[in-house]
Amino acid sequence: MQFNSTQNARKIFAAGIIAVLAAFCGASGAQVKPDIAKLPWMNKALSPDQRADMVVHEMTLDEKIQMVHGTGWGVLRAGDPIPARSNFGAGFMAGIDRLGIPDINLADSAVGVRMAAYQSRYATLFPSTLGAASSWDPDSAFLYGSALGRELRQQGFNMSIGGGVDITREPRNGRNFEYAGEDPVLAGTMTGELEKGVLSQHVMSDIKHYAFNDQETGRTVVNVLLDKKAMRESDLLAFEIAIGIANPSGVMCSYNLVEGDYACENDYLLNQVLKKDFKFKGWVLSDWGGTHSTVKAALNGLDQEMPGGDDDYFGAALKKAVENGQVPQARLDDMVHRILRSMFAAGVVDDPPVRTVVDPFKGRDEAQHIAEESIVLLKNEGHVLPLKASRSASIALIGSHADVGVLSGGGSAQVDAPGGNAANPVPGGSIWGQTVYFPSSPLKYIRAHSPGVSVEYADGKDLAAAARLAKNANVAIVFATQPMREDVDAPTLSLPDHQDALVEAVAAANPNTIVVLETGGPVTMPWIERVKGVVEMWYPGIGGAQALANILFGEVNPSGKLPVTFAKDDAQLPHPVVPGLEGVPADGQHHDVKPFDLRYTEGARVGYKWFESTHRQPLFPFGFGLSYTTYAYSGLTVDDAQRTVHFAVKNTGARAGTEIAQVYVALPSTAHEDYKRLVAWKRVKLAPGESKDVTLTLNPLYLSVFNTEKDGWQLLPGDYKVLLGASSSETPLSATLHVQQ
Ligand code: BGC
Repeated sequence: MQFNSTQNARKIFAAGIIAVLAAFCGASGAQVKPDIAKLPWMNKALSPDQRADMVVHEMTLDEKIQMVHGTGWGVLRAGDPIPARSNFGAGFMAGIDRLGIPDINLADSAVGVRMAAYQSRYATLFPSTLGAASSWDPDSAFLYGSALGRELRQQGFNMSIGGGVDITREPRNGRNFEYAGEDPVLAGTMTGELEKGVLSQHVMSDIKHYAFNDQETGRTVVNVLLDKKAMRESDLLAFEIAIGIANPSGVMCSYNLVEGDYACENDYLLNQVLKKDFKFKGWVLSDWGGTHSTVKAALNGLDQEMPGGDDDYFGAALKKAVENGQVPQARLDDMVHRILRSMFAAGVVDDPPVRTVVDPFKGRDEAQHIAEESIVLLKNEGHVLPLKASRSASIALIGSHADVGVLSGGGSAQVDAPGGNAANPVPGGSIWGQTVYFPSSPLKYIRAHSPGVSVEYADGKDLAAAARLAKNANVAIVFATQPMREDVDAPTLSLPDHQDALVEAVAAANPNTIVVLETGGPVTMPWIERVKGVVEMWYPGIGGAQALANILFGEVNPSGKLPVTFAKDDAQLPHPVVPGLEGVPADGQHHDVKPFDLRYTEGARVGYKWFESTHRQPLFPFGFGLSYTTYAYSGLTVDDAQRTVHFAVKNTGARAGTEIAQVYVALPSTAHEDYKRLVAWKRVKLAPGESKDVTLTLNPLYLSVFNTEKDGWQLLPGDYKVLLGASSSETPLSATLHVQQ
């Protein structure tokens, strides 16, 4: 488990002194610095690979070893030393001064820069990446990444370790909020664009956790079993797409085992798939403590041990292994080359970060924009939404600290809340395991939208009091939360803390009950028939309450669509109980489980594919989301030669809106697939009555099957059924794409 609290303050002070002394010695001329700008590899006209080769050629064995491991847990563990030049992020690799190679300061930054409060800094909390994936908007994902990159730079970091793209195979996974949903094409596209955004700011990017870290229960001991075809067509496809789009600097290998080998020493995953097939040019860094060997890991594709230390696998032990020939010198050179070429390619050598102050307003505006695109309207019976201040004399708000804030996700994705936890202010940064609310108050912004209306709040702890408040109001809005974090999965899809009973009590008291969900992933809704409205706002970030109020009052027309299927209950899932959960000791962490095999018998049938192939009806299907207007699709045609689809979408209602048009494809029968695949989509912005023609090109990869005998992708000849519509379960138009041999 990681650690982050004010207890480390003394260490920071000591580290600061050491840093000042080091700077002083440098300034006094004790060390003669080379003229870095004149070093031949500083020539920007050369390619990153050429530049990296030149540096590797100059390096000593010790310098090479220094680059392939970090310097320890530092700020993450109480009492551990913090390197003098560390920027107080999750990881640190010391640079090679004499060669002009800077340090790498890595910061966790899945949904905002982590641990900013540690150094009295501010960082914007963005919506969860699962929320952002609900926008299906690659431009928004790029904006998300570039905002993260900007704030990382401003805080002195030159590498992000976010970029989670493990698909939602296990809907109760504690980290789903850090990922981008269940579909490999959607998740890969959104994560790839996000990481491209990070790189656009000359900050190195990362994609994680490679691979099949699809649940937290037993994450360090679980051995995932799955055939190669299913691997390539599901989880690995998400990585392939994201890596293809972003060309990330790093890929973080995960804690778990896959087919008997740890992911961080897995020849198939690292050498064969990632480096050979995906042509990944960057470096593989281990998740924190995810390295388990020296020779095996080095030969099987790991390039850097994190958080590392001199005494670990890639420190003195690797030096010895290179000296005695167990690890070839060329392999060590390759590791270092990969790191250096990524540094040159991202621009962190030519354009290092310059510390300045983060602009909280800019970040908030961007976060709010992303949140407004992320919120999904799931139910709107009798047009209970949008609310009209003129129609409601009183509104009751109930539960989940909606008077003060919005929920955030925990673990290494936790961002420090300005002013501390809005629900339970304590000085200092966030503490591992604590549920943190951000100061974006739904009560405040709902009040601001409804002058003259009485808006009252009840905390929901007393069901009778909540019901009383609801009974006396025109509209009751219940907020329901599902706090999630790294290390722990939700035991079930049910809302925790008896919140279902709260919703039932409020719904029984008020016929106009709306539920606002702040969840890490899908949840069940046993009360669905008894409420009028349901809004999923995920963990909406620092602009969350403003975004929600804009949606509730119709200033923004909801456009988000689900990137995950919402099951009716756990029994509908491929694994009705989280695998390994029964082995968690009552007082233990979820990773304290004994080693176990986890066979993903559902194969590539993840999420909606599973539901379709087993004829299950979910509560809400993948791709679903309502709007305050209505849309109609027409004129679907397919061009076989160009592999394009053409159609028109019309706004048939009275409000402007944005529809996410979705194209799915069912493969020819020779593929033996009993489900359809998402292959393309488009956000279409439409004024009332407006119609737009849309053309989308189908990427052959998304139509292909993985042929294990040929060890490659194959586009089967035959008839492909192209389906078009508003969600995975509503595809009114179809056409045929003919693929020739
Ligand atoms: C997490 C990673 C994270 C690392 C450093 C690990 O526990 O799995 O996602 O980047 O810690 O904080």
